[in-house]
Amino acid sequence: MSVSDSVSSSGLALFAENMRKVYHTRGKPSVEALRGLSLSVKRGERVALLGRNGAGKTTFLKIASTLLMPTSGRIEIFSKDVSVHPEEVRPYIAVVPQEGHPFYHLTPWEQVYTYLLTRGFSRETARERTEVALRDMDIYDIRDQLNVTLSGGQQQRTMVATVLATEAPLLFLDEPTLGMDPFARRRVWAALRKLTDRGSTLLLTTHYLDEAESLSHKVYIIEKGKVVAQGTSSDLKRSVGGTVRVTIPMDSAKSEDFASFGRIMTGEGVIHVITEPPQINEILNTALRRGLSATVGPVTLEEAFLQLVGRAIEDEH
Ligand SMILES: Nc1ncnc2c1ncn2[C@@H]1O[C@H](COP(=O)(O)OP(=O)(O)OP(=O)(O)O)[C@@H](O)[C@H]1O
Ligand SMILES: [Mg+2]
Repeated sequence: MSVSDSVSSSGLALFAENMRKVYHTRGKPSVEALRGLSLSVKRGERVALLGRNGAGKTTFLKIASTLLMPTSGRIEIFSKDVSVHPEEVRPYIAVVPQEGHPFYHLTPWEQVYTYLLTRGFSRETARERTEVALRDMDIYDIRDQLNVTLSGGQQQRTMVATVLATEAPLLFLDEPTLGMDPFARRRVWAALRKLTDRGSTLLLTTHYLDEAESLSHKVYIIEKGKVVAQGTSSDLKRSVGGTVRVTIPMDSAKSEDFASFGRIMTGEGVIHVITEPPQINEILNTALRRGLSATVGPVTLEEAFLQLVGRAIEDEH
């Protein structure tokens, strides 16, 4: 199904087509941050936007969350045109901005609670949800401490708790786990899964590719304001040759013995054969017959990302 076909389906939380954004700064050359970006997010999906620094992820999230007007293109949230009716879209969304900070003069409890009140929740619902969100983010013990006294990771957890507590139908999270320890990140993943189980939809960005892999149903890779690859993590790995990597210590000049088993990548004093599980046995046997050792491991989304973005950079030149 193409993106254009899917516009007629009511199953979409977000639909964006041919988005362009040019930033104009007086006395400076203009910057084309989005160059025809199209993507769609189905209801209930967790989707990750990946891309190098400056690829255009935050620009897109700002446009989608009504904070910035696009130069051109069409963007709809739950079938409402974001550029034409931003006020109709806002009640459906909540945003964790990139490198945002909680209000320093409030405590985590006050921050979450007052935000829920401003969004129109009753005091009782706001109180209940605040308690749950603070526990989910493991900041309940520090709920009455001023935000200014919290560590960086604790402040970020407060930001995430504030937004998760809204249970908004569509959540935008721009690097939500930045600066969090591995335990805290997993807390966020669990909370995000719980939200989508209850019907919310998520669009997030992250530079932690293990996070994108563990969390998202679908990934979009963006490079210079355009989508260069999309699909599940497995789709993206397959597109670069396979989901497993067999590493053999040998001279790359003699690697042709293994070329028929998959894609060969050379490392320092080793070759990697990128392949699929059914090929593993034969590769190991071939290595053993030559008196070579071999180790098998999964291809990571990070490797696929490096390959796919690397190809896009080459194509551009
Ligand atoms: N307000 C602005 N004025 C001018 N240029 C801008 C502005 N905001 C962003 N840009 C430029 O637009 C491009 C895309 O930036 P954006 O913040 O969307 O990238 P990103 O993918 O979120 O990167 P990161 O991973 O570093 O957060 C960059 O070249 C950036 O310098
Ligand atoms: Mg950004």
